Amino acid sequence: MRNERLTVAKLIYMAITSLDGYIEDQDGKFDWSMPDEEVHAFVNDLERPIGTYLYGRRMYEVMVAWETMDIPANESPAQRDFAEIWRAADKVVYSRTLETVSSARTRIERSFDVDAVRRMKAAAERDLAVAGPDLASSAIAAGLVDECHLFVSPIMVGGGKQVLPNNVRWELELLDERRFGNGVVHLRYRTRT
Ligand SMILES: NC(=O)c1ccc[n+]([C@@H]2O[C@H](COP(=O)([O-])OP(=O)(O)OC[C@H]3O[C@@H](n4cnc5c(N)ncnc54)[C@H](OP(=O)(O)O)[C@@H]3O)[C@@H](O)[C@H]2O)c1
Repeated sequence: MRNERLTVAKLIYMAITSLDGYIEDQDGKFDWSMPDEEVHAFVNDLERPIGTYLYGRRMYEVMVAWETMDIPANESPAQRDFAEIWRAADKVVYSRTLETVSSARTRIERSFDVDAVRRMKAAAERDLAVAGPDLASSAIAAGLVDECHLFVSPIMVGGGKQVLPNNVRWELELLDERRFGNGVVHLRYRTRT
């Protein structure tokens, strides 16, 4: 009997955004988006199944702090849990400039090759996530993203880095939604086929 896989790995775009659609404000700040314990625990459960992160260089430079972050045991169970999830996953960093990486399980790619990512998805045993809106815009435009998870924070920041790209039409189906005590709303969409 042939050993066929019944499910195909998904590529998921997940981001915390302001109500007006920015992941960082005009000063490059995103302190307003920091998840509290409840949101963080929920994010952890979403990210636990992720086998590989595809990072834009800028997002990687923020996230790599989790590789070495020392979180006191009594401080934040959700942060400790996330650090373990992050360290266990593989990472691919897309960059034309980065020379080295400082995390384990990490490699650099010089260009976003759509066919290569398609092959990565086909071969993957676990889901993949793409992070960093600049990089994600290439994946979205190429039709590679299967799910989009937005955590909408109750704030307008008036401008900055858009969470979703311009000039792309993407038809989605709402799969789930959830509200949190701090006013954040999670919206889970999948690509309409
Ligand atoms: N709201 C939140 O929760 C949150 C959380 C963390 C971070 N952030 C913010 O989000 C920012 C990241 O957003 P972003 O959209 O600027 O960055 P991004 O997508 O993470 O990174 C952009 C960089 O990725 C590389 N890249 C993108 N497309 C590529 C391609 N097709 N081929 C090769 N390399 C490619 C380039 O790196 P090179 O320039 O090296 O070539 C590009 O400058 C962070 O800097 C941080 O401020 C927000």
